[in-house]
Amino acid sequence: MKFFIDTANLDQIREAQDLGVLDGVTTNPSLMAKEGISGVDRVLKHYVDICEIVKNGDVSAEVIATDYAGIIKEGENLAALHPNIVVKVPMIKDGIKAIRYFSDNGIKTNCTLVFSAGQALLAAKAGATYVSPFVGRLDDISTDGIQLIEQIRLIYDNYAYDTQILAASVRHPMHIMKCAEIGADVMTGPLSAIMALLKHPLTDSGLAQFLADHKKASEQQ
Ligand code: G3P
Repeated sequence: MKFFIDTANLDQIREAQDLGVLDGVTTNPSLMAKEGISGVDRVLKHYVDICEIVKNGDVSAEVIATDYAGIIKEGENLAALHPNIVVKVPMIKDGIKAIRYFSDNGIKTNCTLVFSAGQALLAAKAGATYVSPFVGRLDDISTDGIQLIEQIRLIYDNYAYDTQILAASVRHPMHIMKCAEIGADVMTGPLSAIMALLKHPLTDSGLAQFLADHKKASEQQ
């Protein structure tokens, strides 16, 4: 399973990249705003900065336009920034039409704000490179986000769709592990969820014991 980090924070992207397990980055307008990035030129430069840190991984850059012509114009500008840019398009009627256009013209897409299997099926039929079901936001409204990943996996496997399931709105390590069991192609979440995979109390106590035994043995020599 590929690990993407869901942030526009360059320090966190660098930290994940340094760990050697980063396969890509997803952003959205809220995450860009959180970093104080605004204005077309600054936003575009920020995407290039992210691509340069990640080097070989896909970087999702979301369009703001919601009409077909606007999405195409913005998406083509974003795609021209760097070969690793994936144009992130919302799951709306004009978005689906735009995904078909981008797919026919060799531009990678990520269909975002997906909350049902029917939406995911439509995104695949339009030729989306990635589909982003929001696991955590479904859990937030007492609906099983992980179950949606299972449903989409089954449907995509039934028809051998190439669209990759990018489990988004992942919040914690259990989401990551459940997505891996189901066979999501990618997960995107915060650095904290990735780092939490490191943790186990028996690892900490075991290491402390190994080091203490080594120190005792060294002092006895
Ligand atoms: O990738 C989608 C993501 O940014 C949404 O995450 O935690 O705001 O629901 P969250």
